[in-house]
Amino acid sequence: MINSIRIEKITKKDAPSVAKIEKECFSTPFSEADILGYIDNPIWGFFVAKIDESIVGYVSFTQIIDECQIVNVATTPSARKMGVGKSLIGALLSYANENGCKKLFLEVRESNLPAISLYRKFGFIPVGISKNHYSQPTENAVLMNLEI
Ligand SMILES: CC(C)(COP(=O)(O)OP(=O)(O)OC[C@H]1O[C@@H](n2cnc3c(N)ncnc32)[C@H](O)[C@@H]1OP(=O)(O)O)[C@@H](O)C(=O)NCCC(=O)NCCS
Repeated sequence: MINSIRIEKITKKDAPSVAKIEKECFSTPFSEADILGYIDNPIWGFFVAKIDESIVGYVSFTQIIDECQIVNVATTPSARKMGVGKSLIGALLSYANENGCKKLFLEVRESNLPAISLYRKFGFIPVGISKNHYSQPTENAVLMNLEI
């Protein structure tokens, strides 16, 4: 049986686990030092997803006035397709609603169909393409928006 997923605000002691997930999921990952710096930055926010005491995913974002940019969302490979991503984006949308955010936006690799499908599930719509936006490998980004 799958134990329940809990969503919590990040604390500094979570930084090593988040850095590990970054390495597992991205070709140009944030380091633990980067993450500690972002936790201290007032425009940044992070939520972590836990099953029992293990961190299995996280979402990071920035908020400037009434606009929120999702920077990354990731689930550790062994915990995918269990609802962790949906729980994280759901928690972020609740937070955004409660904190005066009117628009959310993000960039995602054009080939990243799992993430694009996750974002569409919450009503994000593609609004443009940024050519060769990513490196390692070079790839276009799809720009997606959600007005709330
Ligand atoms: C994208 C990602 C965060 C989804 O996390 P997850 O915990 O597996 O997501 P969930 O189990 O909550 O699934 C939510 C939805 O995502 C979509 N999805 C997830 N995995 C998918 C897959 N392999 N193929 C297609 N759609 C998928 C589906 O729409 C799914 O909804 P459903 O279960 O009702 O079909 C995860 O695949 C991941 O960490 N990928 C690597 C990091 C990354 O690319 N992040 C995005 C950066 S912008």
